[in-house]
Amino acid sequence: MCGIVGYIGRRRATPILLEGLRRLEYRGYDSAGVAVAHRGRLKVTKAAVRIDELRELLEEDQPGQVGIAHTRWATHGEPTDANAHPHLDEAKRIAVVHNGIIENAERLRDRLAEDGVKLASDTDTEALAHLIAAELTNGAESLEDAVRTTLRGVNGAYGLVVLDVQDPGQLVVARNGSPIVLGIGDGEMFVASDVAALVRHTQRVVYLDDGELATLSADDFSTSTLQAHRTAKTPTTVDVDDADYELSGYASFMHKEISEQPEALRRALLGRLDERFATARLGGINLDARALRSIRRVKFLGCGSAYYAGQLGANLVEEWARLPADAEPASEFRYRNPVVEEDTLYVAVSQSGETADTLAAVQELRRKGGRVIGAVNVVGSAIGRECGSGVFLHAGPEVSVASTKAYTNMGACFAMLALLLGRVRDLSVSDGARIVAALSELPDKIAEVLEAEDAIAEVAEKHSTAERMFYIGRVRTWPTAREGAQKLKEISYVHAEAYQAAELKHGPLALIDATMPSVVLIPDDELLTKNLATIEQIKARGGPVIAVTNAELPNGLADSVIRVPRSEPELDPILFTVPLQIFAYHLARQLGRDIDKPRNLAKSVTVE
Ligand code: F6R
Repeated sequence: MCGIVGYIGRRRATPILLEGLRRLEYRGYDSAGVAVAHRGRLKVTKAAVRIDELRELLEEDQPGQVGIAHTRWATHGEPTDANAHPHLDEAKRIAVVHNGIIENAERLRDRLAEDGVKLASDTDTEALAHLIAAELTNGAESLEDAVRTTLRGVNGAYGLVVLDVQDPGQLVVARNGSPIVLGIGDGEMFVASDVAALVRHTQRVVYLDDGELATLSADDFSTSTLQAHRTAKTPTTVDVDDADYELSGYASFMHKEISEQPEALRRALLGRLDERFATARLGGINLDARALRSIRRVKFLGCGSAYYAGQLGANLVEEWARLPADAEPASEFRYRNPVVEEDTLYVAVSQSGETADTLAAVQELRRKGGRVIGAVNVVGSAIGRECGSGVFLHAGPEVSVASTKAYTNMGACFAMLALLLGRVRDLSVSDGARIVAALSELPDKIAEVLEAEDAIAEVAEKHSTAERMFYIGRVRTWPTAREGAQKLKEISYVHAEAYQAAELKHGPLALIDATMPSVVLIPDDELLTKNLATIEQIKARGGPVIAVTNAELPNGLADSVIRVPRSEPELDPILFTVPLQIFAYHLARQLGRDIDKPRNLAKSVTVE
């Protein structure tokens, strides 16, 4: 959510900043801007445009070897030119780019206005530029001190970079609740809100912790706390490279990431399936058999698709381990004063590992002594670090706003967790072996679904004039229906609502008519006849039916059929997700939508 890039070194800053912004545009794309210092002046270009248009507004070869840049997802103030970052003080000495929300911004802005400062925007960030400049005017010893003193009076979340045109040999960076990573180069330093913006230049990174500041020069960096204590940070090497963030011939990242699912899933399973003992090995969760047996309940916490994946996981835990399990939106959890029991295992689910609501739920759990592990994709992310133990998803970088490969990997990781919890309880060796075999085959089954893409695209095209759709699942496939509806609405803007099949007749059936197709998930399991009856109910009201199935359906029962390969029934919820992704993708394409950058959304929601 919003993207930050900063550069200090010996090369021209602008092309590096623009390239970094392009990599971060998926995190926010309302507006963008760049500030570069050269010969004692700040050259600022910013507007409510996307990065490509920003590029046209400035001279890429403009001189200046230090600069900061931002791509925005509006929180305070509409997406306008004035509200775009970087923000400056009145004397145009200080430039600031900021992610997050300053909660006492109104008070700070009022105080500045009372002191006669003319504010140029409606943002919370601008206040920081004026306050830091004032600290320097009032004798702060260094830019770092000015930033530190200013931040002591600030409540809220921030990841920020500050440039002082009178001291262009350094950048000052701070983090509290919004990710910041430093990139260590050779005679140059980078800073960004996401490694995506750095990996073209360096793999050596340093993650700042909450409450930390850093000062960067071209050759060095130092870190300290808000209380001015020096901290020692050792650079780590990130295991992603530039190609992970390239389209590599695909029309969109969503399409690329859908196609990468077999490979991503193989990575998640690698070394974790134990054929000999018919179980899973998840060393990262740090729980031995005795500790696993002491767990009496499992609760998954996540937001959006991560929450639906948690619901899928909870079903598997109940089915295989016979432990009570459920999922809850992390955004609700901490506000309802939850009962935290010590024999409950909490699982914090997050692709980015930075979602503010999920992070806050983890922190609340830790305050209350809850046992929490992470299921996180991004190594080094805040949630991963806060949990300290857990299961990495190994999906690889996910750029598209709509989650695909991370979701299926969440499903597979939860299947392994459920298998492990089951095998220390009553799940038999033969059932364990059946599940291990089915999980090993899952990547190939997904590859089979991908081969049917053209047929799914035809179905999507046929129904692309619909303005609303139902997604119907039952028991195991209910989370899958929710995830399918989520995919359709976020990228196509077609209203999609998920219902449990048996709930239809308790109200929503009134909406069915010839203009409202229903995507009905029909696994060939013990509930098949019930699901066939659901289709009859919809057809009887004139509603078109798109059946997603691995069963043989009576001829003509559904208007369109999307075929799914057979697997073990418990894994159908994972496998059935893939055709729904492809369906949503092609329907959105048919409607000409901006698939990787859907309106009003951003990847990685680091504000509440
Ligand atoms: C939907 C989607 C979102 C995220 C949610 C949580 O396609 O991507 O609903 O699942 O914002 O994000 P993470 O998993 O990064 O915590």
